[in-house]
Amino acid sequence: MKKIEERIRERASAHYDYMVQTRRYLHKNPEVSFKEFETTEYIAHELKKLNIRVERPLETGCVGIIEGDKPGPVIALRADIDALAMDEEGDAKREFFSDRPGVAHCCGHDAHSANLLGTANILNDLRDEIRGKVLLIFQPAEEKLPGGGRLLTESGFLHDQGVDEIYGMHMNPVYETGQVALKAGPLMARPDEFEIEITGKGGHAAAPHQTVDPVVILANVISQFQTIVSRSIDPAEPAVVTIGKVWAGSAHNVIPAKANMIGTVRTFSKETADVIKGRMDQILKGVTEGAGGSYKFEFNEGYPAVINDEACTAKLRKAADGVLEKNEMIELDKPIMAGEDFAFYQQEFPGAFFFLGIASDEADSRWNWHHPKYNIDEKAFLIGSALMAQLVLGNHD
Ligand code: NI
Repeated sequence: MKKIEERIRERASAHYDYMVQTRRYLHKNPEVSFKEFETTEYIAHELKKLNIRVERPLETGCVGIIEGDKPGPVIALRADIDALAMDEEGDAKREFFSDRPGVAHCCGHDAHSANLLGTANILNDLRDEIRGKVLLIFQPAEEKLPGGGRLLTESGFLHDQGVDEIYGMHMNPVYETGQVALKAGPLMARPDEFEIEITGKGGHAAAPHQTVDPVVILANVISQFQTIVSRSIDPAEPAVVTIGKVWAGSAHNVIPAKANMIGTVRTFSKETADVIKGRMDQILKGVTEGAGGSYKFEFNEGYPAVINDEACTAKLRKAADGVLEKNEMIELDKPIMAGEDFAFYQQEFPGAFFFLGIASDEADSRWNWHHPKYNIDEKAFLIGSALMAQLVLGNHD
């Protein structure tokens, strides 16, 4: 009998064309968060073709369940399925594009879904080897609060299924095709969002003394915000305060009554996020009241940080060792500041998240997440689908 790694890789090659076709179909037919109705039907249909039981704990998305004949752990593998509300940009090298204006798979969740369907096929071929139970989670709405990961976790479904470990991945153009990047502990940040409205007193641009100019207040607040991370947070602790949009006014010669901004705060703990929120409020109060204005401040908590469990990361490393060639595994030494709702699962179950490289010149796939030209090198499916299968089949003692 061949080693299980070899059999998995063989099956991944056998299902490669299937994964490519599946990804291209999903790419042409994207649906935004919480509206993934056709996508869910499509995925459920593909799972049923393999005689895999399908459950639908949420309105969209689904979970395929494969039971092994022998006892063993319950391992959940998670893909996200939603697209973004944006237009993708054309590139002559690509023969497939979104058929739907204003919706596009520019974060590659089409590929995550196709990859996990590939894993479903591999596991189906090797059903006799499965011990315990496998959950194939096709999760909706990664891109939109409150997050499908949160809703699925809170639904109790995964607890009812007795999940022991959960694994997920995001394809990542920072790494070359087929490379796997992993890290124990903090991997991705907690992304909170804020909205601020400053109210002054509008009037004629030539008579500023009769007004309270909210634009000047806003400018001062923005400057003061730059001191939060540099003066109030431990330098060894990663944190970001970014203002993503500011707006005010309507004409050259009018001082407006209001000025607004929105932005995001990235941290690795609720404690740090709370310190930043508190400092923002103090600065807003001081600067605004000092100038005779007032403010509204909304701080919306996003996803928790993705913190990888030590034992699960060790299993992931072992699985990657089995599937990858040498030098294809990258041990990250620091986390990244993007967020992921995979974090919600990790609040309840031990789990590990990793990145799969998809960058190549040939596929023109070096564009960043959410870029209108985002693309993946489909050859990554050979590694991604095999690694997911190996997490199930290769982790027995
Ligand atoms: Ni994404």
